[in-house]
Amino acid sequence: MIKIAPSILAADFTKLGEDIKSVSSADYLHFDVMDGMFVNNISFGIPVLKSVRKVTDMILDVHLMIETPSRYIKEFAEAGADIITFHVEAEKPENIHTTINEIHMLGKKAGLSVKPQTPAKRILPYINLLDLVLVMTVEPGYGGQEFISSMLTKIKELRNVIDGSGVNCELEVDGGINPETARQCVEAGSNVLVAGIDVFNATDRAAHIEKLRNP
Ligand code: DX5
Ligand code: ZN
Repeated sequence: MIKIAPSILAADFTKLGEDIKSVSSADYLHFDVMDGMFVNNISFGIPVLKSVRKVTDMILDVHLMIETPSRYIKEFAEAGADIITFHVEAEKPENIHTTINEIHMLGKKAGLSVKPQTPAKRILPYINLLDLVLVMTVEPGYGGQEFISSMLTKIKELRNVIDGSGVNCELEVDGGINPETARQCVEAGSNVLVAGIDVFNATDRAAHIEKLRNP
């Protein structure tokens, strides 16, 4: 089954609670954390996550676009994250294993993400430990960008690795997702689609989520 994860980066923060309710038929709620260091932009963090946790039972899919994420795993876990995904480029190689283990020890699911220019092979040493791999299909930092179609090859490559090794790992894509790019990503082997602008701009958000699920 295809899962949809609306990104609240595209929500109206003056009515965040209402906006979250409007996408509650989705599978995950995607929460983009940006620190102005790993990416240029700054978004929101722990206090906002705590507030979101209070108003929804949805699975909170936290995407950390921050330098040295190992510094903050415990805080995000305690603030209510269910899935914690960090970037392979953001942490020292020798810390990646222990960071994944820490997420698991806190009772959460662990994800690892790659930027468009980072090859899939950077993920491979950790594939047996992961619950989720996140392929960025735009340069991280901003919503509303155009899908980079050359990422479809990376998605296929990772799908083959996941199927070949028999691990129970989801394959998520993030950036520029709309019904057309959703179809391409699903065909390439992705099973979780993050969508910001495309979902929040829809007049009937629930119907649009359903449309993305069956692209
Ligand atoms: C980008 C974020 C995305 C973003 C996607 O750095 O990780 O989650 O919100 O936005 P859209 O779907 O609008 O491209
Ligand atoms: Zn994201």
